[in-house]
Amino acid sequence: MLPHPACYSEHIVSTMLDSVLGAIGATPLVALDRLAEGLPGRVVAKLEYYSPGASVKDRVALAVIAAAERSGELRPGGTVVELTSGNMGTGLAVVCAVKGYRMIAVMSAGNSLERRRMLEALGAQVELVPQASGSLPGQVSGEDLCLVEARTQALVAELGAYRPNQFHNPHAVTAHQETTGREIWEQSGGQVAAFVASVGTGGTFVGVARALKGRNPAVRCYAAEPAAVPFISGGPAAVSNTSHKIQGTGYAMIPPLWQPELVDGFLTVADGAAIDVARRLATREGIFGGFSGGANVAAAMELARTSAPGDLIATVICDSGLKYLSTDLFPE
Ligand SMILES: Cc1ncc(COP(=O)(O)O)c(C=O)c1O
Repeated sequence: MLPHPACYSEHIVSTMLDSVLGAIGATPLVALDRLAEGLPGRVVAKLEYYSPGASVKDRVALAVIAAAERSGELRPGGTVVELTSGNMGTGLAVVCAVKGYRMIAVMSAGNSLERRRMLEALGAQVELVPQASGSLPGQVSGEDLCLVEARTQALVAELGAYRPNQFHNPHAVTAHQETTGREIWEQSGGQVAAFVASVGTGGTFVGVARALKGRNPAVRCYAAEPAAVPFISGGPAAVSNTSHKIQGTGYAMIPPLWQPELVDGFLTVADGAAIDVARRLATREGIFGGFSGGANVAAAMELARTSAPGDLIATVICDSGLKYLSTDLFPE
């Protein structure tokens, strides 16, 4: 079952779409044969920036709004308020623009400027929450996220708005199970041996892992964490500084949607490695992704180094490098 069959772009190239919502999902799966040259395993990546909001979150946004319409939680002309690092808000802004809802995105001042600008361009109102005193610009910590959560709760209560609540909404998982995971399986001809993804809400990891393991229980699924915050893997309990550059991931908490039984192992990726791989993705593969895309591919290459010859390792490029032009990811 797809989350919203009427809008889902199964045949985007051959058909005319009723709205841009039909262009969500069905992203290309691309082999990174230049970057992973010489490694025994083969790395393939889903290019999620092909979606209208240029990120993996469009799929979730479409699914949660469709579900809220079905349940009656969201009615014509209603207001949507969501806590976001930018991408979920952008996906929601795309969906709300087409469907005519008011959208308020609550985000940390630590997220990149492009994300805020894009949200506003799509007609969303941005509620920017200042960072905690010890936090660094461009690096959203667990503490920062707590502040954003408090502001989101206050706004929802004040406006009687619908809150998708992406960290708790089961559609954050099923959207990926029914689309991203199924697509990876079908596009790889059922040949995928392993999957790896960084974790924010955990929707991508849990949904894709469910889809792949449901089709072949032997598929191994790995979660990648920022090297500074190996929290879900039970790293040093006293992670005192939870700052890192891999935006949208690594919040030093176990996501409520997490399913530990789906995890075959953990990898860590340092900021520098994520940046290095993101730059090489651009120059060697022509793939212009963000920090977490670099982290995911760095982790996938690590797996490919020790995998059996020809094993297919799948991952996702979560969003576009265009969202980080004001950061040090692609410096002048
Ligand atoms: C850039 C980026 N990468 C990775 C993720 C993590 O995805 P998930 O929330 O499905 O775990 C997010 C989530 O917002 C993101 O914005």
